[in-house]
Parts: sequence; C-alpha cells; structure tokens
Amino acid sequence: IKSTSYVCLKLLSFSICYIWLYSIVIHLFAVKFKVSCPDQTLKARLGEDITLQCHLEPPTDATDMVIKWTKPESNEVVYLYGNTKNEHSQNRTYIERTELLKEDLAKGIISLILKNVRLADMGNFTCEVEKELWYEDSKLEVTVGGKLAYSEPHFELDGYEFSGRFYYGIRLLCKSEGWYPQPEIHWTNENGENLISLSKPKIVKNLDGVFAVETDIKVMKGSGNTFTCDLNN
Ligand SMILES: *[C@@H]1O[C@H](CO)[C@@H](O)[C@H](O)[C@H]1NC(C)=O
Ligand SMILES: *[C@@H]1O[C@H](CO)[C@@H](O)[C@H](O)[C@H]1NC(C)=O
Repeated sequence: IKSTSYVCLKLLSFSICYIWLYSIVIHLFAVKFKVSCPDQTLKARLGEDITLQCHLEPPTDATDMVIKWTKPESNEVVYLYGNTKNEHSQNRTYIERTELLKEDLAKGIISLILKNVRLADMGNFTCEVEKELWYEDSKLEVTVGGKLAYSEPHFELDGYEFSGRFYYGIRLLCKSEGWYPQPEIHWTNENGENLISLSKPKIVKNLDGVFAVETDIKVMKGSGNTFTCDLNN
C-alpha cells in the first residue's frame, strides 16, 4: 500500500490514482463471477409464459446480490431485486407479468418468468448482477412469433343499397379483432365463388401490434343466400 500511494502522489493525478486503487481493491476483495445466459435466443409464442434464465459462473449464491433485468433498446426496467435505489422505476407492464424464482437464486440461477408474452416484449433483455464492487451482465434476445385470433368473425347488416328509390341489395359487414399476423380475407357464396372483388377490406393495426379487420360486401338482391367471410393467418 505504501508504494502505491507513493506512485499516486508522484503522478499528481488523483482521478487516475483513484481508479487504479479502486480496481486493485476490486480484484483483491470482490466476489468474482460471470453471468452467462445459455439460451441466447428465446423463441416465444404470443400469450405464453416463458422463463428468461441466466446463471452465475462459478455457481454463487445470489440471494444477497442486486439483480436488474432491463430492455436496453427501450430503456425499460423489467425487474429489480435486492437493495436498489430505483425501486419504482420498474415498467408497469412488467410489474404484473414478471416473477423472479427466489428458490433458484441460492444456486446462482437467475430465472425470470415472463407471463403472457406480447409483441412489445420482442428484443434484447439484459441481466445485470452486482455484488459489492463486482458487476457483470449478459444478454439474451426474445423473439415473438405464432398466431393469434381473439375473436370469431361476426356479421353485421351494414345497410341497404338503393339506386334512387329502388332497393337492390344489402351491405354485409364482417368484423374481427385481435389477429396476428395480419389475416387474409376471403368472401365466398354458397357456390364457392370468390367474392373478394366486391369487398372493401379495412385492416387496422392497434397499439399492441395486433390487427383488427372490417370487411364489407354488397350483396345484390337475388344473388344468393349464404355468404362466408373467412379470415386466415
Ligand atoms: C414503460 O414502457 C413504455 C413503453 O416502452 C414507455 O412508454 C413508458 O414510459 C415506460 N414506463 C416507465 C415507468 O418506464
Ligand atoms: C439484440 O442484440 C443483437 C446483438 O447486439 C442485435 O444484433 C439485435 O439487433 C438486437 N435485437 C433487437 C430487436 O434490437
């Protein structure tokens, strides 16, 4: 220590000296571990529960460490564990949907359960682990796929078609929401004829990234009794 302070004084740069001493202290006294996430890419399906898992190498009891899961691309805090100062910064959408398995921590395994996966979960998650002066992190990527259909299509009578005062048909509206990926729309009559050219589809992407569909067709008087609106993704 004596020779260290001597070199520091001679350098006359306290910040360099400080950093140097600090790194010496870390290397001498800190608990040392690495964070490793075996599954670099996790494929999730919409709506399912997944487990983001990393572990400490060598296996080290993590119950008294500070653990933080974040999403660096959107600056979101996904989960906080341990003695952290920013306990209220956890993003609301993750407060309800995440859980850290406390029983795994003693074995040095950091398992974060993410429930009801959404499209917005897609991206990188970083697992940051801190113990006294030691810090390590590691990253894994979540991709979200799969298909989703919340509601059966349903029909509405959208209106009557007039030409002047002459009534010649009706407008049928087919509505459905909660689709991902975007569905294809098919309209057919009882003879299996494709009526798509008579339709005007409107597909809206909502904030969650899922699609709502509204598509109507004009049905002429006498053109048939059965119409099928078929959505497919
Ligand atoms: C949570 O995430 C959303 C979407 O990225 C963002 O708009 C919001 O500001 C975040 N809230 C907090 C408290 O970080
Ligand atoms: C996640 O990180 C990798 C490597 O840094 C990067 O190539 C990739 O684009 C990131 N994913 C997203 C969704 O930003």
